[in-house]
Order: sequence, then structure tokens, then C-alpha cells
Amino acid sequence: MQEGLRDRSAAGMVAATTAHILESIMDTPAETPERKAFYARIDKQNMTALWTVMNALITQEPKSQCLAALWRFEDIRAAMLEAGSLITAKEAERRVLILENPGLRGCSKITTALYAGVQLVLPHEVAPAHRHSQSALRFVIEGKGAFTTVDGERTYMSPGDFVITPSMTWHDHGNESEDPMFWLDGLDIPLVQFLDASFVERHPDEQQPITRPIGHSGAQYGANLLPIDHPRRSFTSPIFNYPYARTREALDQVGRSSDCDPCHGVKLRYTNPVTGDHAMPTMATFIQLLPAGFKSNPYRSTDATVFCVTEGRGHTRIGDKSLAWGPKDIFVVPSWHPVVHEAIDGECVLFSFSDRVVQEKLGIWRERRGNY
Ligand SMILES: [Fe+2]
Repeated sequence: MQEGLRDRSAAGMVAATTAHILESIMDTPAETPERKAFYARIDKQNMTALWTVMNALITQEPKSQCLAALWRFEDIRAAMLEAGSLITAKEAERRVLILENPGLRGCSKITTALYAGVQLVLPHEVAPAHRHSQSALRFVIEGKGAFTTVDGERTYMSPGDFVITPSMTWHDHGNESEDPMFWLDGLDIPLVQFLDASFVERHPDEQQPITRPIGHSGAQYGANLLPIDHPRRSFTSPIFNYPYARTREALDQVGRSSDCDPCHGVKLRYTNPVTGDHAMPTMATFIQLLPAGFKSNPYRSTDATVFCVTEGRGHTRIGDKSLAWGPKDIFVVPSWHPVVHEAIDGECVLFSFSDRVVQEKLGIWRERRGNY
């Protein structure tokens, strides 16, 4: 087996070669009048012959309707401000414009498994308290002085902060500043929908009561320390705001002292300090630095990934499509599409999220490095 034909799975196992996979593909059997009549008869009994659909069900490689796409923030911003004049955050419950993948229109999905939207909270608005089965992440794009309260603790948000709302935790948002506040929302809505496990509740009050001081979770869990008897109650990180100032400093220091990964530049994942696993159970989150002039080697993985540009300008080649991006733009890379990132104007920082954490747990996540 040639090294270049090997893929790496979540368990670090070497997967089958492409040649081997090709050998295993079956042709769909030809249709005959007798077979067609049989299919028609069993159709009335809600049955279908596997051999007629097998090639569509079990594909040689991931086959998705999800397409590579990019949303320019200036377009999103203009549409959102217009939305701001049409509906209040309170009336809308959440004033969000969904980023719909062009290959999945009407499904409220940015990838097959994940949802993304951009939320606007105008000065002195409140987005009322509720909770739901779906986990949410916020990645702050613009504005300072808005807060989110999660299970009784408030955190104020700044650009580049990564904020978590775990499943079934009360959360409300407000903006005490004089400027509009925009952030990227990432949720596991399609995944929860697929599993028919959705619940939502409205809090009796517009804003939930504050029960812990600001910064409490960060002090308890964000200093490489844990309370001595911390119970493992949740799969989600107890840190619910990962401030960009600290993230950026980490990227800087790691970038100065380590070699760049040829496929990723300097890429770190957000983690749950209690378990060492990803910060959230259904969405993996990452931050990466592309040094000035860096061009990555081709890379593909089975987790379709949403990127939000934090700093810099560059372009990303996804299969035969090239997307040029700048600060605050959002783009999506479908599963198993070869990706090449290039920083063209100084160093760049990209935030990203995907369903990799789920695929890893299921033992199906796979990546391929190199151009083949
Ligand atoms: Fe919510």
C-alpha cells in the first residue's frame, strides 16, 4: 500500500485504499419486466429491494448536496440592519438571519448536520430567556457591550470571543452599548431534528435571575484548576466564554515556538477542561493562524466545516471553486472536498466549527492529507 493513498480515521487507523474501495462497488442489477412487477407489488407493502438503492445509500465516498459557499459580512450586515428596522428582538424571539447552504435551501442548514445564522441585538434590546435541547455556540463578529446570560451567569462579549450555550440551559441576551452587536450562531439543530429529540421552554421572566457573579466560571475552570469535587454533570465545557484576547495570545506564542502544520498552519481546538475532549458534545470548534504568505497543502476531512474570518485576507480553494475572503466573512467547506487556504494579506486567523466531535465518537471521522 502506498503511503500517499492512506487516510487517517479518528482512531488513527489506516483505512482502505481507493483501489480496494473501487473493487467493492457493486453495479445496480438490470431491471427486467418480472423484477419491475415485483418492485411494484412490494411497494404497496412499504418495502423496497435494497439492491435497487444500495449504490445511493452506501457511496464510494461522501456524497452531499452541501456546496462550498461564502457570505460577505457587508451583505449580511446590511440585511440584518434592515431586519432590525422590521422586527424587534423581543418579537422575533431571536433576530437571526439563517445562512442557508445553496445546495440545501429551505432546510435551515449550512451543512447537512449543522445550522448557522447571524444574530443582531440592537442597543438596549433584550432577546428573551428560553432553553432548548439544541446546543449553541456564539462567535462574536462585531460590537462590544452586549451580554449573554447562561444559567444565572452573565458574560459580556467582544469580537473573537467564543461563547457556549449548553443544551437545556436558560439563556437570554441583551445589549447595553450604543452600537449594534453581531455574532455568528452555530447550532446542532439538524442533528437534533434528525434524532427527533427537540424540546424548548420559555422562561417565565424576560431575563433570568443572576445567581453567580460575572467571571465566576472562568475563575473556577479557566485557570488550569478545577473545584476539588467537581461532578461530571455535563458533556459541555463549564467555561462558557473563551475570550479572544487569551486565544490570540495562545496562537501567537504557539506560532512563534512551533513549526506550522503544512495543512492547517497553527490550529488549536477549544477544549472542555474537565474531560480534555472538545468543548461541546455535538460541535467541534477550532481557531487557526495562517502566517503571512502561508499556503496550505491540500487537505480533506469528512466533517463539513463552517469558517468565520477573524483577521486577515486570503482565499480558499475548495475543489474547483475559489473563495476570496476578508475579515468577518463566513464560508463553508463541504465534507471530503479538498481544501487549500492561502493568506494573501498579512497573517490570518480563522475560527471554525464542524460535527467532527460526533463523527469521532461514532468512529467514522476520516481525514486525508495531500493532493491525490
Ligand atoms: Fe436559544
